[in-house]
Amino acid sequence: MTGTLLDIDGLEVTFPGRGLRCRPHQVLHGVSLDVAAGETLGLVGESGSGKTTIGRAVLGLVKPSGGRITFADVDITHAAGARRRALARDIQVVFQDPYSSLNPSLTIGDILGEPLVVQGVGRKEANARITALLDQVGLPVNSAARLPREFSGGQRQRVAIARALAPRPKLVVCDEPVSALDLSTQRRVLELLVDIQRDTQVAYLFISHDLSVIRHISHRVAVLYRGDLVETGEAAKVTATPDHPYTRRLLLAAPVADPAEQQRRREERWRFAERDADRSAA
Ligand SMILES: Nc1ncnc2c1ncn2[C@@H]1O[C@H](COP(=O)(O)OP(=O)(O)O)[C@@H](O)[C@H]1O
Ligand SMILES: [Mg+2]
Repeated sequence: MTGTLLDIDGLEVTFPGRGLRCRPHQVLHGVSLDVAAGETLGLVGESGSGKTTIGRAVLGLVKPSGGRITFADVDITHAAGARRRALARDIQVVFQDPYSSLNPSLTIGDILGEPLVVQGVGRKEANARITALLDQVGLPVNSAARLPREFSGGQRQRVAIARALAPRPKLVVCDEPVSALDLSTQRRVLELLVDIQRDTQVAYLFISHDLSVIRHISHRVAVLYRGDLVETGEAAKVTATPDHPYTRRLLLAAPVADPAEQQRRREERWRFAERDADRSAA
């Protein structure tokens, strides 16, 4: 790992209120985090905490109302138009839903070829790169001629990963990339992401609500609670002996293999719930 690749400093995002009398809604309250080249930063928090909004701000899909986003020492907070399109080479994304994220009428070969053609890669070179990408994500070479509907959810997510890797990005924003998959498929896709990182030094901003997934893949972990980071640190530390009560609570909600441990956590979770009920009654 070498220096900082992505640096987010005091990021604020406010959405306009829906309807006439609805007040604007601040979703991120000054979030600061960074991702080093070749590193995986896991971003974890419950649904609605603002994880996707952070990813979308990095991708230029939502406008920050405050703060700064720097990529490879360049301020990209408000990059738009040609500058933003140029960034797509370096910053790619994999979304949660492998069913809606692939154009159903394009073959896998066309889906993977598109970003290469945009880059001006010639047909012959593109075909060679598509074959290599399929191999890299563990799909058969003859997949190129087939359509997304011929593939399972896990295979489609491999296609989405291959498409993200096609322009040889430095950073991939992975927004809940395994959350729609069953547990054994999840594990294989996570292992694939780790292998790819080892071979290419790509960095991941890896977003998930699931601390057990985050623990598996991350070097460092940042914990988001209602638009504020409450804890950032080494993955082993944050996911085993967290400092913040909210992180401890996420930890208790994460699935574990051991039934006795499962039972212990269930009881502890109930104690949290009771304490919260006491607090809101008070
Ligand atoms: N385009 C939008 N317009 C208005 N509110 C939004 C928009 N996108 C997200 N939100 C709100 O911002 C909050 C955070 O959403 P999100 O970033 O998707 O959270 P997460 O990914 O952690 O589940 C939620 O309350 C959500 O309703
Ligand atoms: Mg989300």
